[in-house]
Amino acid sequence: MDHPLQAWRDTLGDLGVLGLVREAPAAPVPPAVPERRAQAQAAPIVTPVPPRQGPPAYVPPTAPGACPSAEVVAGCGSLETLQQAVSGCLACPLGGGRIKLVFGEGDPQARLLFVGEGPGRDEDLQGRPFVGKAGELLDKMIGALGLKREQTYITNVVMCRPPDNRVPAPEEARACLGYLRRKLELIQPAVIVTLGATPLRELLGVSEGITRVRGQWRRLQVGDREIPVMPTFHPAYVLRQYTQDVRRAVWEDLQAAKAWLDRPDGPTAGR
Ligand code: URA
Repeated sequence: MDHPLQAWRDTLGDLGVLGLVREAPAAPVPPAVPERRAQAQAAPIVTPVPPRQGPPAYVPPTAPGACPSAEVVAGCGSLETLQQAVSGCLACPLGGGRIKLVFGEGDPQARLLFVGEGPGRDEDLQGRPFVGKAGELLDKMIGALGLKREQTYITNVVMCRPPDNRVPAPEEARACLGYLRRKLELIQPAVIVTLGATPLRELLGVSEGITRVRGQWRRLQVGDREIPVMPTFHPAYVLRQYTQDVRRAVWEDLQAAKAWLDRPDGPTAGR
């Protein structure tokens, strides 16, 4: 069995701070020579230490890995370099609680891209999006469209697990938004499907209830392109409300997204 502190060590390792943790100070060693002789041999103090005046000034984190600047993010020319750049991100409090950062996965040139809310427990453990129960359902839905999961790209609004699977706070979502937008610029999907209310609110600023807006095309400006966005229910909601109506609604939304993929010159998306 793993050492009980292994998970914590892994977390520190993931954050890249393992080597920065200070060892416990050694116990004071009693002087080997009489006090007076030791003083006589001590080197003279040449740099007097000024007395401390109040608490030290706040210094913003500059350590590599604290969080990449907007310029660095914009300069990432591939998903791999972006993933590397954000791997130690501590831009919001979620970073300090993660086991694994869940960047997203799939075809870097996917035409269909899903955006969920944020990693849950299984995702945090594995570092992969939608691998729990909700993910199983998402995989089935993708399969029912005649696609494989690997042909799509799957990511979330936030890349670190919110405690107790709560909805990410607006400032947490904002801290991750630049990364998500860069992913979209790099992948340039033909269609985005948002899962649940959170990605719709954080990515498009739509805060109406998902029940009202699901199934209605939206548009998202990404670089010089407008990408059609199909909002639908989150798979976790479908599992909780496993009714005929909810399942039919999601199926219609996904089929609409697929129809757009199959006919890129089809009806104009958005309103
Ligand atoms: N729910 C999400 O929104 N995303 C995941 O990755 C898993 C569950």
